[in-house]
This record gives sequence, C-alpha cells and structure tokens, in this order.
Amino acid sequence: RPRVLSGIQPTADSFHLGNFLGALKQWVALQEDFDPFFFIADLHSITMPHDPKLLRERTLVSVAQLLAAGVDPDRATIFVQSQVPAHTQASWVLECLTGFGEARRMTQFKDKSAKGGEGAASVGLFTYPILQAADILLYRPQYVPVGEDQRQHLELTRDLAQRFNKRFKKTFRVPEPYILESTAKIYDLQLPEKQMSKSIGGNGCIWLLDDPKASAKKIRSAVTDSETEIRFDLENKRGVSNLLNIHAALSGAKIDDLVASFEGKGYGDLKAEVAQVVVDFVTPFRNRVHDLLEDRSELETILAAGADRATEVSEATLRDVYERVGFLPRA
Ligand code: TYM
Repeated sequence: RPRVLSGIQPTADSFHLGNFLGALKQWVALQEDFDPFFFIADLHSITMPHDPKLLRERTLVSVAQLLAAGVDPDRATIFVQSQVPAHTQASWVLECLTGFGEARRMTQFKDKSAKGGEGAASVGLFTYPILQAADILLYRPQYVPVGEDQRQHLELTRDLAQRFNKRFKKTFRVPEPYILESTAKIYDLQLPEKQMSKSIGGNGCIWLLDDPKASAKKIRSAVTDSETEIRFDLENKRGVSNLLNIHAALSGAKIDDLVASFEGKGYGDLKAEVAQVVVDFVTPFRNRVHDLLEDRSELETILAAGADRATEVSEATLRDVYERVGFLPRA
C-alpha cells in the first residue's frame, strides 16, 4: 500500500480545532487505504524557546490526542521524531543541497523570526523546513496531509527530492501535499483575517482539551460582520463562513443545507448551533484523552513499536542516501 505521512508539533497543552480539522481528521481518513506514518515533531518544537519538562509531558499528551482523534495504532506507525535518528542525519545531507536564499524565502521563517526581533531567531528555525523535508522523504510517501500553512514547506520538499534524484540517482519519491480545500485554513474566531494558531491562542482559538463550556463561550463571541444574512462567502464574510465550515466539518452537514436551514435566522442562532456541535465533539474527545493518559505505559509501548518500525524504514532510505552521496560505508 502507498504511504501517507505527517507530523505535528507538541508545542501547547493541547491541539486546537485548526490542527484537528486541517490535519488530524485527514490522517484518520487516510489510514484506511494507505500505510500511515504519523509522528510528534519534537525536534521541530525546540526551534522556539521551550521548557524541557513541559515538552516531555506535551509529547505524551500529543500521542493521546492522536489516538483520541481516531489514529489507530494497529494500522498506523506512531512515533516520536527524536527517537528516530535518521531524520537529523538525512536533514544534514539535504541542507547541503538547499540554497541560502531558497531557505530565506520561507514565509513561516520570516514570520516567526520577525516576531522575536532581529537576531533572536536560531539557525534551527532557519533550517526547520529542511528537517521537515527529511521527515517526509525518508518514508517515500505518496501523500502528506497538512493544512494550507504547510504548502510552501511541501514545495521545498518536492524541489529537494527532485534535485537529489537528478544530481545523484532516483532515491526519493516526490510527495504530494494532501490539502482539503474546505478545512485547509480554519480562521481565528476573533481575528478572522488570521488562521487559528497556537501562537495567537486567546479567545480566537479553540483548544481541544479546554473546558467545553469555555469553548462554547468563545464560539458565541466569535467576530462576524455588520450584516445579518447567513451565507457562505469567505472573501466578504470570513467570520460567518469560518463558523459554517467548522459546523460542516464536525457535523458532516453540507454547507448549502446549513445555509438553507439558517434562512431567516440570525448570527446568534448560528453561533449557538456551532457552539453545540463543538461541545458535542470536544467533550468525548477530552474524556478519551484523559482515559488514555491513565495508562502511560500503554502509550509508551505504542511509541516503542512505532520507533522500531520508523527506524527500520528510515534507515533503509538513509543507507541509499549515504551510498549515493559517496560516503564510505563502515567495514
Ligand atoms: P503544526 O504542529 O503547526 O500543525 C499541525 C497541522 O495542523 C495544521 N494546521 C491547520 N490547519 C488548518 N487550519 C489551521 N488554522 C491550522 N493550524 C495548523 C498544519 O498545517 C499541520 O498540518 N511543520 C509542521 C510539523 C511537521 C510536519 C513534518 C508536517 C514537521 N515535520 C512533516 C508534515 C510532514 C507544523 O509545524 O505543524
């Protein structure tokens, strides 16, 4: 079976609704027909200042969230990036194929480095997308399910794969991003011009492990617009359209049917219904995560098996890479 691979950073106490709808939901759907590899990108998460104790805890809570979202450890290889050494090893080789200017053009680097002020960004933040390319290419996946914000990193990954294949010998599969239009970008509830994100947080961000009542309140105070009509129009009615998208993605309803059902009703009705849909999703999700965290050794067993399988697959590719760039094998 062709492979699918993706990763997520353990950078907050909880994933948010954008992570779930933009990525995790597709991971779960794709695991049916593909050989899935899903990992916690802890190496990436130290590119910004962090607390070591919190990182360890969040890594395990992240695994529990993958399982609660429906990732099936009997089908999927679930692992922690830092436990599989080939990622950083392949990353070095790819760094040597990446132009300085090419790396500097990455918009996520530009955004994140601008925030910390001139000079505050680490070299790791700069090479971040190259490590991401290594994460992907080592497993030769067909698809990489991600949100819209990762598209540029996927483009770089494809470029690097093609460059390596051309300069040396065909080694990597050129992967395709798997980005679903309707949920590619879930917007911040308070700042609908921005995407919902861990770094903004606040009242515009729905954390999956928050008190569901707090999440309902955030939905009810979501920013909309000065009209009254409920219709789907991302350009001119971003806030309302975002709420419709969230509803549709969680409830399975079609946008057109939703719009029809709200005819003659107001924004308050829309928000109340979306709040309910969100509460109905996060309540059992949160309970499952808490149950899974009761038995941490079970999670660690899943990760140990995942690290074994991921190591096996990634080292086979790394051996090809090392051979092709001309490294002398150990006798
Ligand atoms: P991360 O941890 O920031 O986000 C995890 C996934 O969630 C998606 N996402 C969103 N989708 C829709 N709307 C939003 N508001 C939203 N916010 C986040 C992201 O696009 C992502 O798919 N660099 C990656 C982690 C990574 C990775 C990889 C991904 C490392 N190596 C290899 C794929 C393949 C990241 O920081 O994702």
